[in-house]
Amino acid sequence: MSFDKIVRGGTVVTPSGPVKADVGIRDEKIAAIGKGLSSLSRSGAEIVDAKGHLVLPGVIDVHVHLDLPFCGTVSSDDYRTGTRAGARGGVTTLIDFAIPYAKRGGKCESLREAADNWHRRAEGKTLIDYSLHVCITQWEQHRRQIKAMIDAGYTTFKEFMIYESEGWQSDDRAMFNTLEAMRDLGGMLMVHAESSRVLDEMIARHHTPALMKKLGARLHGISRPNFTEYEAIQRAVTWASVTGGPLCIVHMSTGEGCDILREAQEAGVPVVAETCPQYLVFDDSVFAKKDGHLYASCPQVKKPEDSERLWAGLRGGEVSWISTDTCTFTRRQKSMWKGDWTKIPMGLPGLETLLPVVYTRGVLDKRLTLTEMCRLLSTNPAKATGLYPRKGAIEIGADADLAIIHPKKAMRVDHKKMETNADWSPYQGWNLAGFARTTLSRGDVIVDGYKVVGKRGRGQFVPRRTPSLTH
Ligand code: URP
Ligand code: ZN
Ligand code: ZN
Repeated sequence: MSFDKIVRGGTVVTPSGPVKADVGIRDEKIAAIGKGLSSLSRSGAEIVDAKGHLVLPGVIDVHVHLDLPFCGTVSSDDYRTGTRAGARGGVTTLIDFAIPYAKRGGKCESLREAADNWHRRAEGKTLIDYSLHVCITQWEQHRRQIKAMIDAGYTTFKEFMIYESEGWQSDDRAMFNTLEAMRDLGGMLMVHAESSRVLDEMIARHHTPALMKKLGARLHGISRPNFTEYEAIQRAVTWASVTGGPLCIVHMSTGEGCDILREAQEAGVPVVAETCPQYLVFDDSVFAKKDGHLYASCPQVKKPEDSERLWAGLRGGEVSWISTDTCTFTRRQKSMWKGDWTKIPMGLPGLETLLPVVYTRGVLDKRLTLTEMCRLLSTNPAKATGLYPRKGAIEIGADADLAIIHPKKAMRVDHKKMETNADWSPYQGWNLAGFARTTLSRGDVIVDGYKVVGKRGRGQFVPRRTPSLTH
């Protein structure tokens, strides 16, 4: 047997559970998993010592916005800082969203043009592998372009039920038609589910100088009650049910959403849901803090009981994975709000802390087993987005994408020492275990001793297969 590298002596989390084993790597792939590989191997293999550590499948963050023009500014992590941040948190593949923008003369970019724009953002900068979901913003124009995108390996699409002012909004007719196209062509539709018109009304009712003076950033939570999410989820699920088109509810934040998902899945509707760390570990009391506006995201964090229901949903299957919805804004960008919550750039940094937050609050706090966590951070998102079996699990033949973490060693989060371009962190001062001591991407060591050592631009675009919904 010959290997290029052997990850030796760790506890390897395979799909069937943790085992003490070595991982043999050849030609960027996992070639063997077993005991004593270095004694069986011909000499010359480089050894990565994993003694006393956990060897996890590389984390797959399938919800990321790098360099995104949004809310009157541009998200401040690009493919250089965003992928360095990801690598430090054990993320080895991310999926961003290519969004078609309006062109001069009123027409919109094609799906291909949008994807090409996002490839240009990544080119020469990305440290880890990446792929792209493609957003459908003009159904009549984009409908005929879907098949070609699927054939080229872009097998997941997104529609937004809100964001009219960004020019991104889709209506029920578009969603219904897109779900039929997904069913017929072998794709999956990801939906940002919020009830646009009722949300407009809620915002209008609260958008008064007196209330803004009194309640400040708290209005972000107050103006988006749970029903503005779960009504939209219910509607999207209904369209999935009657069309049979595969659907994913992204960044689900409400307990009621979990109940809807459970009922639909039991009835055989092809629907899965994603949630994000912020919905699991924060609640809307953050908006009352001194810098509460920094925490504004869309959708926003809800109540403690929503977080508890989401954790239960992750264990029970109605929530299939955890991704970040990374959309970083600096303090200066967030300060655009000037006391008006409708002007806060919405989004949070997340790539660097995804694994540490889920490992610490999930596994160490006994909400999840190690195997469940790897399913939620790697295998399920890989399957649902068509990255599997190339990525998503420690299995022979898969890309050698690995995150090696110490089971206990915690680090104090300090944005000044992080790779993200954010000059603040929602987790500032938290003690978190689970930062990657070593990250391997296709067998390359890109993080060593908790420091990024990989070269920018080495990451590759990964075309994807037909999604396979698992819950
Ligand atoms: O607040 C967030 N996440 N902004 C990014 C856009 C979205 O809705 O995913
Ligand atoms: Zn969204
Ligand atoms: Zn998003």
